[in-house]
Amino acid sequence: MVVGRGRQDGRAGSGIAGLDRMMHGGFPVGRPYLVTGPNGSGRTLLGLQFLMEGLRHGEPVLLVAVDEPPHEILENVRTFGWDLSKVHTLDANPGQLAYRRLGSVQEIKSLQEVRSMQELGDRKPTTSTTEDITLQSIYLKLRRQLEVLPARRLVIDSMTSIRHFALRATGEQQTDRTEIQSLLRFLAEREVTTLITALPSPGGELTPEQILCRGELMLRREWSGPSMRRTMQVLRMRGTAHDTEERRFTISSEGLHVDDAAPAGDED
Ligand SMILES: Nc1ncnc2c1ncn2[C@@H]1O[C@H](COP(=O)(O)OP(=O)(O)OP(=O)(O)O)[C@@H](O)[C@H]1O
Ligand SMILES: [Mg+2]
Repeated sequence: MVVGRGRQDGRAGSGIAGLDRMMHGGFPVGRPYLVTGPNGSGRTLLGLQFLMEGLRHGEPVLLVAVDEPPHEILENVRTFGWDLSKVHTLDANPGQLAYRRLGSVQEIKSLQEVRSMQELGDRKPTTSTTEDITLQSIYLKLRRQLEVLPARRLVIDSMTSIRHFALRATGEQQTDRTEIQSLLRFLAEREVTTLITALPSPGGELTPEQILCRGELMLRREWSGPSMRRTMQVLRMRGTAHDTEERRFTISSEGLHVDDAAPAGDED
């Protein structure tokens, strides 16, 4: 196993001290993990915080941005003072041009190249179409990218959107178990610690990513009177003991912060 700076003891810190404590030291490196939660629960911010932690330790990091275009991500965290400029980003958001056929088929079939977040933020919306957004096209792009950039961390945000766009483009359920399995096996071989975000599956049935990821983190949010009550819980995590408590956390302009002193059952 490759152990570099910031990956002591075979763990990749999440960038959230309380979450690292919940995992008894961080994510076991080189494996894929699922982060589920409803809209607005903090999945993207958690992913960005995880990537920032990698950058802090000099690790190359990669984001597959499907849910939101890079310029919006940059805007969202502007008040946070986070420097995401070195986050290598695959802009897989179909953007405003999603449903217009532009240029040659070849052009519209090819996803945008990976660029730094800064570079993408300065550009006009992508010309990717929903036809680009299949797990297979992203897999091929990642394979090529990881040959030139040995990323140690990857965030795919989100699997739900990849599935949605793939379905729209082809009319078929593209992201079947075999495709996800190939991608995750490839990433594990490259020892890339990966977070895959997703909405909780409707009806609660098991998704392929739930079956194949080596651990699962669940974010929840609900209104408690006038305030939002947010919690996170490590549902499972192979290779480490972990906290099983549902812990409260807050989001501020410093990102996610787990309140260690308050298991979710405790009232104010
Ligand atoms: N500066 C801030 N201070 C407090 N809370 C914030 C701040 N910025 C964002 N938030 C909260 O974080 C939420 C967004 O978090 P994030 O984008 O990570 O959620 P998500 O789970 O990815 O949701 P989405 O469905 O929009 O992709 C906002 O809805 C808001 O409640
Ligand atoms: Mg999001």
